Amino acid sequence: MSSRRPLFAANWKMHKTRSEARSFLADLTARDLSGPAGDVAVFAPATCLSEFEGKGIPFGAQNMHYEAKGAFTGEISSSMVLDLGASLILIGHSERRQLFGETDATCRKKVEVALEAGLTPVVCIGETLEERESHGHFAKIAKQVRAVSEGLREAQALKLIFAYEPIWAIGTGKVASEAQAQEMCAHVRKIFREEVGSVADSTRVLYGGSVKPENVAGIMAGEDVDGALIGGASLDPEKYYQILVEGSPKS
Ligand code: PGA
Repeated sequence: MSSRRPLFAANWKMHKTRSEARSFLADLTARDLSGPAGDVAVFAPATCLSEFEGKGIPFGAQNMHYEAKGAFTGEISSSMVLDLGASLILIGHSERRQLFGETDATCRKKVEVALEAGLTPVVCIGETLEERESHGHFAKIAKQVRAVSEGLREAQALKLIFAYEPIWAIGTGKVASEAQAQEMCAHVRKIFREEVGSVADSTRVLYGGSVKPENVAGIMAGEDVDGALIGGASLDPEKYYQILVEGSPKS
């Protein structure tokens, strides 16, 4: 169990209308969120971010463009995300990388823009099954971490959060073993430390990929695992809350 305060962030992906978001929030905010020693946050579709205003749940968008404005049909900018009251931004989720052409270079630009705007970037990194089976996972993660962190100033580095999400574990029901989650989160921190120094010791590194109430405590046992990014199980407020409870350190 890490000494950093854990974050259990929900990634709704392309799920929930505004009224569905409202009922989720009514359910979640009626629960004891200050009891468990962990933080919550929700990455919701841009269309329902406005529902989070004034609800006391930190939230963010799942993507944004790195340009401030212009002829980029279908995109949203950092100032638009901020304008909705969001404090976080998800960057480089593997679905964005695999399906929508996101690269290490675009992730880097987005991290810089997010930091400049005052949004906390949660940067997703992870290897495919082929990369793991050919023992390329350490190199892949190192490359992804370095791409977004090279040359960052200490004050910038302090704001970054990473989410290690092995692609083979996302939405598949196949969760990484506790040892794999720990090994890779430690690797992320090691590479980040090489780039930015000791601030990496206070950086939160989350694990993502088929996290559920039943497996979160085991995953959180790793010293370098500082929380989770949760897709499928975060759509149900009961399951999401149970993840917060089960995954948070017990006093
Ligand atoms: P999952 O998704 O929990 O449904 O596997 C995790 C993610 O993609 O962030």
